[in-house]
Amino acid sequence: MALNNIFSNFTLKDLNIEYPIIQGGMGIGISSAELSGTVSKYGGLGVLSSVALDYLISQKFNKHFKQREAVKIEIEEARKISGQKPLGINIMVAIQKHYKDSVLGALDGGVDVIISGAGLPLQLPEIVAEHERVNEVKLIPIVSSARAFELICKRWQRSNRLPDAVVVEGPLAGGHIGWRDVEEAYKPENRLEVLVKDVLKAAEPYQIPVIAAGGIYTHEDILQYLEMGCKAVQMGTRFLATIESGATNRYKEAVVNCKEEDIILSTQPGSPCGLLFRVLKESPFYQESLAGERAELCNKGYLMINGKCLACQDRTLAFCICNGLLSAAGANEVEKELYTVGANAYKVEEIVSVKELMSELTNSRNLILS
Ligand SMILES: Cc1cc2nc3c(=O)[nH]c(=O)nc-3n(C[C@H](O)[C@H](O)[C@H](O)COP(=O)(O)O)c2cc1C
Repeated sequence: MALNNIFSNFTLKDLNIEYPIIQGGMGIGISSAELSGTVSKYGGLGVLSSVALDYLISQKFNKHFKQREAVKIEIEEARKISGQKPLGINIMVAIQKHYKDSVLGALDGGVDVIISGAGLPLQLPEIVAEHERVNEVKLIPIVSSARAFELICKRWQRSNRLPDAVVVEGPLAGGHIGWRDVEEAYKPENRLEVLVKDVLKAAEPYQIPVIAAGGIYTHEDILQYLEMGCKAVQMGTRFLATIESGATNRYKEAVVNCKEEDIILSTQPGSPCGLLFRVLKESPFYQESLAGERAELCNKGYLMINGKCLACQDRTLAFCICNGLLSAAGANEVEKELYTVGANAYKVEEIVSVKELMSELTNSRNLILS
């Protein structure tokens, strides 16, 4: 098959996305309305992040909003840029506190696609079934194994539903990755190419499109996964370092200036949700946590599990991710900044606009001229 035939639009049933490129959801506040709206405007699928929108939207409009309403407002803000082009939202299972409200708010706001990972989104179809837009929204789980994918399919069938596509995220991704142990994450059988093959095989009987994520950087990388049989790719780090992303300039500069050895999977202290979390070693917040110098402050609680946050119990095991990430999006002036990146962040050489990046990734001059 000729390569230019492979690089075609990505369809999710009746939803047509011009390019097979999904900008991965990036919390907190990185895949903002401005970033995601602009990616959708230029033909990719822009994906908002639902994390801490109650805080961010209340701060932006100087008025208190609960999570469900805040999610709806964020979608409306993104639509001012994307128009009616396809738009998605990422909702993390690990944020138990707001999971249901985030899903319902996303449906209220008229989002086209919900992408959900950082845990198994087993209950997603049941929650969606409570809303009148149940048959309009497309649902995409994120998995790191064929086993997780099969488990999700089995459970979703109880609600007479299957995933509309599945994202397979490998160990090179930014943010949380699907492993708890560094050695395990880097085993050869967990390389993205291997995971993608397994999930392609598992998804074939259901005819479910597979999307690859984690470490995909160039147009050629995208072609590699499309050739393997994926229908699209999801990319985070490239979009983190765009003009439109919600990261502070210090964060973007740290990405441009980092070297390969500066990027680590944090453990002890790591993320309170227990999954490995990739950070820039020199993040001011991470350094402060390592040195045990951070003041006792844990007042957001987005990652509480059964009413408890690990960072509140033992600061040698976990750091308070909520405040560090809010600072990295310029939304908390008290705390230092925590920078999460993908393993390929050291390749980023400059901060570019979404339009320039989309033109590079699609290998298309038309975008530049439009
Ligand atoms: C700054 C940053 C924040 C992220 N936050 C989230 C998140 O909130 N939820 C999620 O499911 N994935 C998150 N991710 C993962 C991305 O959506 C994406 O799948 C991943 O970064 C792909 O790997 P890449 O960065 O090598 O392209 C994040 C990634 C980055 C770089």
